[in-house]
Amino acid sequence: MDYEESVAAHYGSGGVLERLLAVVRRAGADPGNFTPEDLGGADQLHIGGRAATSRVAERAGIGAGTRVLDIGSGLGGVARHLAAEFGATVHGVDLTPEFVAAATALTQRTGLAGPVEFTQGSALDLPFPRGTFDAAVVIHVGMNVRDKDRLFAEAARVLRPGGVLAVYDIMLLGGDVEAYPLPWAATAETSFPQPPLAYSDALGQAGLEVDREAKPLAEGIEFLERVRDGAGPAGLDGPAMANLLDAFRAGLLAPVEMYARRP
Ligand SMILES: C[S@@+](CC[C@H](N)C(=O)[O-])C[C@H]1O[C@@H](n2cnc3c(N)ncnc32)[C@H](O)[C@@H]1O
Repeated sequence: MDYEESVAAHYGSGGVLERLLAVVRRAGADPGNFTPEDLGGADQLHIGGRAATSRVAERAGIGAGTRVLDIGSGLGGVARHLAAEFGATVHGVDLTPEFVAAATALTQRTGLAGPVEFTQGSALDLPFPRGTFDAAVVIHVGMNVRDKDRLFAEAARVLRPGGVLAVYDIMLLGGDVEAYPLPWAATAETSFPQPPLAYSDALGQAGLEVDREAKPLAEGIEFLERVRDGAGPAGLDGPAMANLLDAFRAGLLAPVEMYARRP
């Protein structure tokens, strides 16, 4: 199994759509026809949930009619939020077949299948021509990607001149990560957290200009403490969440946002 197959196997462990539809039922909504809010943030697989997605959208200048590529689109929560709340048209690409199928089914059931679609594929070989998108987002995906130069070169290729790339990943602030599992990987074999400097270097290598960086670390700790005992992103199990919280508190890892523009 190559490492991309191992990443897809980690995420696509079966039954994800049923788990999400159970969330909808518990919210008292019809699992055949519901709103993105009825998923209660379970479809947003990143620190900060929908509030963080809104912040990224605002900082990236995403609005009505913006053509957005969602790289590593997961269960489609980000894509649906950008379409429903910001009026964007969104194409999601993800490595994990089960996630692409679940994202598509959830999107059909929320009536967003017009502006939102998904394709199975790799961030390292995006199935789009040069200059297709006004904006691209990479949200909690880079931790699974060894070759960040290639990741950002591909993102830069599909952005139009003036297009914006928003990156919101968990990055390495010090030392080495030793305690696994983490939410994105069961072992170090598929885990590649990197320091912000490695990200800005890779963005620069791709010909992008970095114009903003932010570290919502306090929000990361507070978010994990809040979801520990209640509803949170789908598939966030106890040991992975506990290890991530420890790493945040120790200052080893932190959620970091970066915004870059194609000149
Ligand atoms: C933690 S989830 C984040 C999903 C989504 N961005 C969100 O915030 O809800 C990471 C996702 O990245 C996908 N992924 C990891 N490596 C990838 C790659 N090389 N190409 C495409 N998708 C990838 C995984 O399949 C998974 O769905």
